[in-house]
Amino acid sequence: MPVPDVSDHSIDQLISLKGRSAVVTGAAWGLGKAAARRLAEAGAAVLIADIDEEAAAVTARELAERFSADVTSTRLDAGDAASIIATADLAENRFGKLDIWVNNAGIPSFSPLLDLDVEEFDNVLAINLRGTFVGAKEAARRMIARGQGGVIVNVASLAGVRGISEGQAAYCSSKHGVVGLTKQLAIELGAQGIRVLGVAPGFSLTEKTMFIADWDEETIKNCPIPGIGTSRLGRVGVADDIARAILFCASDMAMFMTGSTLLLDGGMAA
Ligand SMILES: NC(=O)c1ccc[n+]([C@@H]2O[C@H](COP(=O)([O-])OP(=O)(O)OC[C@H]3O[C@@H](n4cnc5c(N)ncnc54)[C@H](O)[C@@H]3O)[C@@H](O)[C@H]2O)c1
Repeated sequence: MPVPDVSDHSIDQLISLKGRSAVVTGAAWGLGKAAARRLAEAGAAVLIADIDEEAAAVTARELAERFSADVTSTRLDAGDAASIIATADLAENRFGKLDIWVNNAGIPSFSPLLDLDVEEFDNVLAINLRGTFVGAKEAARRMIARGQGGVIVNVASLAGVRGISEGQAAYCSSKHGVVGLTKQLAIELGAQGIRVLGVAPGFSLTEKTMFIADWDEETIKNCPIPGIGTSRLGRVGVADDIARAILFCASDMAMFMTGSTLLLDGGMAA
């Protein structure tokens, strides 16, 4: 494989995704929406794939107008392999190719061990981990067939690199799986020019997490999470903190990175 020398490329060129296409799962709301926004802003054509079909369509329209970009939407259930395959087919037909796949769709789980039944455990694993596996596999299949490489970005969590508070057994298991899968797929796909990276948010405010707690000013400032710690940066994370890292991973800025998961936690785990 020739060594690419991009040292004379401008920063604008390196971060640009013009001419590339991307699928972002779970992008109707939250971190996925913020990521889709940055990818579209960087010039990518984006497919917003989400179980909330109506919100996905609204987000797609919003981004298409804002960035004069090719942004479209589809219904996706990340817990259903057939639905993921249909999404990959749709993206390939619509854009003619698939360059970037962001496995972001995920659900939380709060049951302490003795209340956590097998059905809940399986459902969390099916969406968070199996959905990531199938998404990566279907993206890789199409990238390999085209022979031009690609990038897969998996959204893990701080709960993918350490244990969290009570009630996180299913979630934590699923996200540790995502971090492990990211390493393994990097090994399997590197020779095909496909990079696989993860991002691990600590805690980030989104339309939904904003309502989890009764956020007072002190909480927003330090974001204390019982048993984990506080943000060292004097503020809580926001969706765009994660979205910028996803853009970085997807772009040529990160062209020599694969297999690692970037921790985006404001130093919480430091
Ligand atoms: N926000 C945080 O603090 C935080 C921290 C660590 C990790 N994460 C991870 O980031 C990702 C996004 O989280 P978020 O906070 O933006 O969540 P969110 O609930 O705000 O958004 C999740 C999106 O996924 C969609 N979705 C849910 N189930 C789906 C399914 N089965 N198939 C397809 N789409 C589905 C939802 O409709 C929504 O648009 C998740 O994987 C989550 O585990 C979030």
